[in-house]
Amino acid sequence: MATPDETSLVAAQALRQILQVEPTMEMFDDKPRAKRAGSLDELYEMIHTCTKCSLGHSRTKFVFGVGNPHAHIMFIGEAPGRDEDLSGIPFVGRAGQLLDKMLAAIDLKRDDVYIANVLKCRPPENRDPLPEESDSCLPHLAEQIRLIGPKYICSVGRIAAQILLDTKTPLGKMRGRFYDVCGAKMLVTFHPAALLRNPNFKKDAWEDLKLLRRTYDQSMGQKSRF
Ligand code: URA
Repeated sequence: MATPDETSLVAAQALRQILQVEPTMEMFDDKPRAKRAGSLDELYEMIHTCTKCSLGHSRTKFVFGVGNPHAHIMFIGEAPGRDEDLSGIPFVGRAGQLLDKMLAAIDLKRDDVYIANVLKCRPPENRDPLPEESDSCLPHLAEQIRLIGPKYICSVGRIAAQILLDTKTPLGKMRGRFYDVCGAKMLVTFHPAALLRNPNFKKDAWEDLKLLRRTYDQSMGQKSRF
């Protein structure tokens, strides 16, 4: 007969398998907190001086997030770049300008949605986030999602999606379906920077955005023009 320890190990492995199919953000936020923020402003005050990882020492500005605190749709990118590190606002550089156009294409403005990144601080030379950096930062994002309570999340780019879904699956294989993340339905699409580098992907990105908007409209009982 299995000991209780062995049983819980098997249960934990089974849970992890389930999470990999239908992951939730709960897995990133399993540590008891001394105090939970009651609003985004309060959360900002609690975390904007974070130095849980080394990026907290190299950043210029902590890039918290921007947009409607009650947004039904949230966009999540990878990490701040140079422009974002300097301004403290996510997606303000060239990729951000394209993100604004992508939003406009489905009748959305920045003020309609909430925009944040997995990492709140810029990795040097825009390198990929290290596992310890995303592990430190994910609880911040989980708190943002809890406070905003979006119905839909659109993650932009392979890296954000792979971190959020705890997978190494290529972007192409993650697209086209919704995943349960923190009580929201999450769709994966291309990063606007990738679309700037390779405009051939724009057609597929457009299909993703239409799917997002159509599904959202239908969930609100509205006729969709997408
Ligand atoms: N790329 C991202 O993933 N996020 C930003 O905020 C800017 C560029």
